[in-house]
Amino acid sequence: MTSRLITGIGELVTNDPAAGDGGPLGPVRGAALVLDGERVAWVGPAGSAPPADARVDVEGRCVIPGFVDSHAHLVFAGDRVEEFSARMAGRPYAAGGIRTTVAATRAAGDADLAATAGRLVAEALRQGTTTMEIKSGYGLTVDDEARSLAVAARFTPETTFLGAHVVPAEFADDPGGYVDLVTGPMLEACAPHARWVDVFCEAGAFEADAARAVLRAGQARGLGARVHANQLGPGPGAQVAAEVGAASADHCTHLSADDVTALRDAGVVATLLPLVEFSTRSPYPDARGLLDAGLTVALACDCNPGSAFSTSMPLVVALAVREMRMTPAEAVWSATAGGAAALRRDDVGTLRAGSRADLVVLDAPTHAFLAYRPGVPLTFAVWRAGRPAYAAAG
Ligand code: NIG
Ligand code: FE
Repeated sequence: MTSRLITGIGELVTNDPAAGDGGPLGPVRGAALVLDGERVAWVGPAGSAPPADARVDVEGRCVIPGFVDSHAHLVFAGDRVEEFSARMAGRPYAAGGIRTTVAATRAAGDADLAATAGRLVAEALRQGTTTMEIKSGYGLTVDDEARSLAVAARFTPETTFLGAHVVPAEFADDPGGYVDLVTGPMLEACAPHARWVDVFCEAGAFEADAARAVLRAGQARGLGARVHANQLGPGPGAQVAAEVGAASADHCTHLSADDVTALRDAGVVATLLPLVEFSTRSPYPDARGLLDAGLTVALACDCNPGSAFSTSMPLVVALAVREMRMTPAEAVWSATAGGAAALRRDDVGTLRAGSRADLVVLDAPTHAFLAYRPGVPLTFAVWRAGRPAYAAAG
């Protein structure tokens, strides 16, 4: 095992309040890091760094933890660019578009699904994402959901069973029968490949009782719960998430004051997905209000072919700052440590002794440049589990 000293760091974002000036990012100026194997072994002032086998000088660049993207739908076939163009011409976004992708996904072989997911995971890595959750949800039969999760598990341990994404066309007259399938044979087939269970609790998808049944069944099978909640309008999703003790309520675009209180009191992370509002031309969630109310906020991409076809966490950070009134420090925390909280992980999203050595070297002196220079590729290098995983050309 080789230890490496990373030095010449202009600003180090640790997300460790005990480090540096005690702010939420715990930035340390003039800092160095020592990586040993897969882990961070030491963080502190460069002048007191312990000896290491090798040395990497990042020449004044900022180093942040790798992004933790806690919400993505990467197992699908085809695209919906025509739906996007129609939406930009004024047609509203609706949950039913998911069925278009379901038909294409069912017709695709495992190798094609894996190739698409792998391409998107690699695209995300080039933008600094080192941990990614991946959901099923475009198969909606026992076999298609199980093989979707088997594909997802090739890329991440953070796999989520989303059989309750929409009611497929063949169950249009029997939505209760579909919930029975999801909570019975489909869950049995999928649970071995999944860490989480999720449900799209929304008008046009699943109402509160069905959502509760799906989440409770998943929990009884040992899966953690997460919920697509209050995306398209007010509804019961956030309350259901609080009631079942979900790790995260995702979207949270239309929350009442009671919803906010319920999420906070139940310790549910609010995961905001501003690329969805960007790509569906909709009002953004009230990040400022959630933060001021004391919730833990995560930021994620929700990459999917319908509502947000992007893997760019830097763009998410820029949107969160510009459109949702988060400070750059809050947005970077939410895109790293916040995502880790949403996945109930304590080994990623931070850079302190013992953390997994997942880090991004930005071609910029401070984290604020992620929002200050929107749309500009600022990834200089990415390290994952202590190994170089990406380096910008030239
Ligand atoms: O998170 N909300 C439900 N699911 C996805 C959209 C999926 C699609 O439109 O294909 C989302 O936005
Ligand atoms: Fe989603």
